[in-house]
Amino acid sequence: MDDFLKRLPKAELHLHIEGTLEPELMFSLARRNAVTLPYADVDEVRAAYDFADLPSFLELYYQGMSVLRTAEDFHDLAMDYFRRAHREGVVHVEMHFDPQAHLARGVELETVMEGLGTARREAERQLGLSTAMIMAFLRDRPAQEAMQLLERAAPFWETLDAVGLDSAERGHPPSKFREVFERARMLGIPRVAHAGEEGPPEYIREALDLLDVCRIDHGVRCLEDPELVERLRDDRVVLTVCPLSNVRLKVVERIEDHPLPRLLDAGLRLTLNSDDPAYFGGGMLDNFRACQRAFDWSRETFVQLAESAIDAAFIGETRRLELL
Ligand code: HPA
Ligand code: ZN
Repeated sequence: MDDFLKRLPKAELHLHIEGTLEPELMFSLARRNAVTLPYADVDEVRAAYDFADLPSFLELYYQGMSVLRTAEDFHDLAMDYFRRAHREGVVHVEMHFDPQAHLARGVELETVMEGLGTARREAERQLGLSTAMIMAFLRDRPAQEAMQLLERAAPFWETLDAVGLDSAERGHPPSKFREVFERARMLGIPRVAHAGEEGPPEYIREALDLLDVCRIDHGVRCLEDPELVERLRDDRVVLTVCPLSNVRLKVVERIEDHPLPRLLDAGLRLTLNSDDPAYFGGGMLDNFRACQRAFDWSRETFVQLAESAIDAAFIGETRRLELL
C-alpha cells in the first residue's frame, strides 16, 4: 500500500509556499542575508512548533519567512519543495503565496514573482512537474490593502491562476473582501478562499455567495450545517482538506477524529493536501499515509481523491488528460 500511495500521481491544490520553509533552509538563508533568528539551531526551531491554534502558528510562520529577501531565496525555497514533492510522487503543485507579508518587510512583488517564476520553469524542465500560482490576500489586514495589491499585480495578472484568501480566519469573514474578489472576477481571475477551518460554516456560505469561489480551502466545519453540506455536494464544490494541518492546529484533536470519512460519506468532492508541510509534520505522502493508518481506506478511495485533485486543478485540458 505504501508503494501504491507513493506512485499514485498526486496533485497538490492547497499549499503555502512560505510554509515549505524547512528549518535547515531557514538557517542557511538567515546566514546568507545576515538575518538574526530567535533560535540557536534547527532543533530549537522544531521544538517551537507546538501550536495551540491557527493564530499561534501564523506568528511563527510570518517570523520564519523573514529570511526570504531576494529572488534567489524564493527560487531556492520553491525548488527545495518541488524536488521533495517530486520524490513523493507529486505531479502538480498549486502554490499560495503571501505578497503582503513580504511587502510589509520591504520585499517587492517583482522579487517574489521573479524567484518563484524561475523555480516554476526549472521544475517543469527538470522534474516534469507542473505548477500554478495562487496570490493570497491576508484576511486579517484591511480589504483596501488587498485591493491595492491586486492593482499592483497588474503586470502579473496573466501569470496568476487564481487569487485566494488566507491568514487568521476568526473575525475576518469573506464578506470583508467582496469588492476585491469582484474586481478579480471582472479581470477573469479564478477565485478560491480558506473558509471553515477555524471559522463557522457561515464563512463557507459567504465565500460561495459573495466571493464566487470555485474551491473552498479546508471547509471541514461545513458538517455543522447539513443544508450547506447538501449544497456543496449538489454544486460539486471541491474542498481542499489538509489532515495533518488540522491536527497540528487543533481543528481536530487526533487524526482518528478527523471528519474526512464523514465528508466522504456525505458525497463531497475532496482532495488531500499538506498546507504548510515544514510546520505540520509532513508533505503530501505523509498526509496520504496518515489517512491510510487512521481510516484504512481502499486503493479506490485514494484514487478517487487523487483524481478529484487533477479534475479540480488549474491546468489546461492537455495536461489534465496527461495526468488522469
Ligand atoms: N490557514 C490560514 N492561513 C494560512 C495557513 C493556514 O493553514 N497557512 C498559511 N497561511
Ligand atoms: Zn492553507
